Amino acid sequence: MRRRSVLAAGTCLLILAVGASVHGQARGGDEAYGTRKYADFERPETCRQCHVDFYYQWQQAMMSQAYVHHWDEIEYFKLAVPHAEKDPKVAGVKAGCNGCHSPLAFVSGDTPPPLPSAGSRANEAVSCEVCHLVVGRTADTSYNYNYILEPGRVKHGNREGVVSPHHITRYSEFLRTAEFCGTCHNEKSPYGVWVKSTQLEWAEGPYAKEGVPCQVCHMPRAPGRSANTAKEEHPDIAQHLFHGAHDPGKVKGAIEVRMHPSEREVEPGDRIVITVQLFNGKCGHKVPSGSAEERQLWLHVEAVDAKGRVYHLPVDRKGFAGEEQTITSNELAYQDIGEILGDPTFQGLPRDALPEGDRIFCLPYFDPRGRRTIAQWNTASQGVDYRIGPRETKIETYTWLVPQDIAIGRVTVRAELNYRRLVKSVADFLGVPEDETEIIRVNEASTWFDVVD
Ligand code: HEC
Ligand code: HEC
Ligand code: HEC
Ligand code: HEC
Ligand code: HEC
Repeated sequence: MRRRSVLAAGTCLLILAVGASVHGQARGGDEAYGTRKYADFERPETCRQCHVDFYYQWQQAMMSQAYVHHWDEIEYFKLAVPHAEKDPKVAGVKAGCNGCHSPLAFVSGDTPPPLPSAGSRANEAVSCEVCHLVVGRTADTSYNYNYILEPGRVKHGNREGVVSPHHITRYSEFLRTAEFCGTCHNEKSPYGVWVKSTQLEWAEGPYAKEGVPCQVCHMPRAPGRSANTAKEEHPDIAQHLFHGAHDPGKVKGAIEVRMHPSEREVEPGDRIVITVQLFNGKCGHKVPSGSAEERQLWLHVEAVDAKGRVYHLPVDRKGFAGEEQTITSNELAYQDIGEILGDPTFQGLPRDALPEGDRIFCLPYFDPRGRRTIAQWNTASQGVDYRIGPRETKIETYTWLVPQDIAIGRVTVRAELNYRRLVKSVADFLGVPEDETEIIRVNEASTWFDVVD
């Protein structure tokens, strides 16, 4: 379980704790549970007095919503808490979810915290203080909230020698690294499976080698002042945008799509092959990343003949082990939801809730009984990782026996690459509002060939 995995890093923890804390209290991960109080932390509204722009940028980013956002509330209170109360194997998540989603609640030992509607300080989620009081991590690998928080007047930033009337500032190398983000963006399930690995994916890819951490893409630089009371401007102020899956502008174009036919002229009954290339040119990790158990990225290909008749082309199979998980299907899945809810009549929900036969770029998560799950904490194994890595190009083919009755003339073939944050069948069943299942068109491409007599 979480507690054990953090203890395994115990030696490291002690060394770091001595170096990092003047109070000798610095703890991270599960060791930090209940070691602080809410009152040890300042509110974001205090920071707003001077850091006006950052406050409103942050307020629009999902990390300020990580506790109050509807789907977070539903998954935590409807699934995770009841599950933790009945299955000892996952008991730790009742507190543990908040190690990342509401760090103040976690370190204050407030479990479960009041509902978001109560307006408690748990709602501050990943606040200014959470990031700017971090002094290190407890192990060589970042995961499961193993950041070390040290509340107090010292705020850690990215510049040497900046002066504030409200607090002391100190330069932090760690804050500028991907490993800092990884303390919450990598997660291991109680079964020891990596169920979030954005920083680990990044570390294996080209951007780590080129020294381009998360901050470059998610906190872009612009000239200005970081506080309205700041003495001088800087050419490279780190904007607190943190745009990701909830920003269509960020998701659009993340993957480029091109396609071409194997020939330009065919007769009815001939075989033609359409080839599609998908290039991840914009993203520092795999797409989808993070909550891969519930994100969907799929390629839908259609041909339209000269009379406007539409044909859906299913993707060619490559024949690798576990490939069926990477081709859309509506077989019943997510049966563990029924067990968590104590509903023996629950049969499951359609796996992808999409047209069948499309390629879906995913990493399937399986519960202890080998069934697909969207409960990442209940993940005991995973299937083949068929997501698109940073600067990777995936090639898909579509072999088509052109129908005998197709219209003579030009056929247009279209490919649409779509993204959805949450499987629609799951969202509908759990009552998650529709914005979470909005479909974002990542990219599209088209090509053509002619059908002749
Ligand atoms: C009374 C005004 C004021 C308040 C309130 C305030 N700050 Fe600051 N802060 C400043 C000024 C001024 C600077 C220096 C900016 C500069 O010179 O570029 C600064 C700098 C910083 C830096 C260092 C930035 C760097 O470039 O390294 C951090 C981090 C920071 N503040 C965080 C916070 C947090 C978190 C809060 C709320 C708990 C907060 N501040 C509240 C005025 C304030
Ligand atoms: C080269 C630019 C780049 C770098 C570096 C980068 N990202 Fe991203 N990130 C993106 C883009 C573009 C998207 C939108 C596409 C998507 O959702 O995957 C994104 C999406 C995300 C998402 C949402 C993923 C999902 O599908 O739910 C998270 C979370 C995220 N990034 C965190 C990070 C973290 C943490 C790091 C560092 C370890 C990082 N990113 C590094 C460009 C980058
Ligand atoms: C998810 C973590 C995170 C949160 C939340 C966060 N920050 Fe930051 N902040 C950073 C990082 C990382 C940097 C440094 C970026 C770099 O240099 O790569 C930074 C930089 C800053 C700076 C200096 C900017 C510059 O370029 O001079 C200030 C000031 C600051 N943050 C204040 C705030 C305030 C105020 C809030 C809340 C409204 C806040 N931060 C919320 C991570 C965070
Ligand atoms: C204390 C934990 C914590 C730290 C540290 C942290 N994050 Fe996050 N981050 C979260 C959580 C929790 C979410 C999910 C928010 C939600 O509920 O949708 C998230 C979501 C995101 C998203 C997705 C936003 C979207 O639109 O869906 C991005 C991008 C992101 N974080 C970037 C970063 C970067 C970059 C850093 C480091 C500078 C960082 N985070 C550090 C906890 C953290
Ligand atoms: C190690 C840190 C960590 C832990 C522990 C954690 N989460 Fe998260 N969670 C994140 C991050 C980071 C994201 C954003 C990933 C992305 O954008 O793809 C996220 C995303 C989510 C989302 C999707 C939000 C959205 O709007 O799309 C939900 C729901 C969620 N978490 C619920 C939970 C629950 C319930 C638990 C406990 C069983 C939990 N999380 C445990 C870090 C964590």
